[in-house]
Amino acid sequence: MQRYLLEPRSGGPFDLLLREVEEPAPGPGEVAVKIHAASLNYRDLLVRAGKSASGGFDPVVPLSDGAGEVVALGEGVVDWQTGDRVALTFFRDWLSGPFETSFHAAARGGSSDGVLSQTVIAPAHSLVAAPAAMSFTEAATLPCAALTAWHALMERGRPLERGETVLCLGTGGVSIFALQIAKAAGARVIVTSRSQEKLARARELGADETIDYLQTPEWDGETMRITAKRGVDRVIEVGGPGTIERSMNSVAAGGIVSLIGVLTGFDPPKASLFTLVKKNADLQGIYVGNREMFVRMNAFLELHAIRPVIDRIFPFSEASEAYRHLEGAGHLGKVVVQV
Ligand SMILES: NC(=O)c1ccc[n+]([C@@H]2O[C@H](COP(=O)([O-])OP(=O)(O)OC[C@H]3O[C@@H](n4cnc5c(N)ncnc54)[C@H](OP(=O)(O)O)[C@@H]3O)[C@@H](O)[C@H]2O)c1
Repeated sequence: MQRYLLEPRSGGPFDLLLREVEEPAPGPGEVAVKIHAASLNYRDLLVRAGKSASGGFDPVVPLSDGAGEVVALGEGVVDWQTGDRVALTFFRDWLSGPFETSFHAAARGGSSDGVLSQTVIAPAHSLVAAPAAMSFTEAATLPCAALTAWHALMERGRPLERGETVLCLGTGGVSIFALQIAKAAGARVIVTSRSQEKLARARELGADETIDYLQTPEWDGETMRITAKRGVDRVIEVGGPGTIERSMNSVAAGGIVSLIGVLTGFDPPKASLFTLVKKNADLQGIYVGNREMFVRMNAFLELHAIRPVIDRIFPFSEASEAYRHLEGAGHLGKVVVQV
């Protein structure tokens, strides 16, 4: 079978190389999954660049997010049968309850092997059933981006309520899932983007208000104008140091800023955190989510007939092109590789 490997290059980023290896067999408690599709996240660019929080320095099979079919069962596996359609979890061992830092040791496509491979061997506990209505390409977009948005809006702190307002930064994978989940939960959603075309698409997907953050660099002021100076109840903060100050300015009293991304880098932010104190607002760090949340999210997606927004699908042989496409940031929603 074939799989990709990110192999460290001395003094530089990793190389993405296609390798032929023997077909693996599941050990006790494991299953073999024939991967049909894998999706990319911004984190995969960080892993390739050697910058991810959950990336190592050894050769690793890239990409955390995949879906496929169970093709073989190891000894003692009773929860799955061959032919089951499954998606893999991002944190292999975070099943339920609060996060423990030890889970970083098995983050797929970073500290442990990922899914850009024709077959993946996985512990039986690290799979969820793929939503029946979704294709493999759709189900492959769920494990990181969708679950992160779901965790931020519906699991941590208090669940988003009907009538609340959510601000989504940009139109990447996490933000578009946040838009879809928030609309289904009855929220009002504001989306920002650098592209008018993407903002038009976001409105088609249900965004109530949109802001072009290139034309309106003071988008926090515009958010306050849109919300009649109240601010938003939730911010999906994927930008990091370059956006956090405006995100805090945008949040309403008692609101929540979910700190998720680093699209503007890893430098320490210059913003004063006192903005949150004045508003009795919360800042919560979100790192994907656990298996139980994934199961609850899938039920919600099915209930509301939410289908992932896929920007483009690349063939397995063109995985490098998929990375380039994501890096170009011309996409809206998810970029997928068909395996
Ligand atoms: N903590 C976690 O568990 C977790 C999970 C998933 C992702 N993340 C992080 O969250 C971030 C987003 O990930 P993703 O996979 O959704 O990324 P993505 O699909 O690559 O999205 C990138 C998009 O973000 C927007 N963007 C870029 N710079 C921006 C800025 N300064 N202000 C506002 N929007 C900006 C752009 O949208 P427009 O072209 O529309 O402007 C860009 O196309 C990344 O930093 C990623 O590492 C964290």
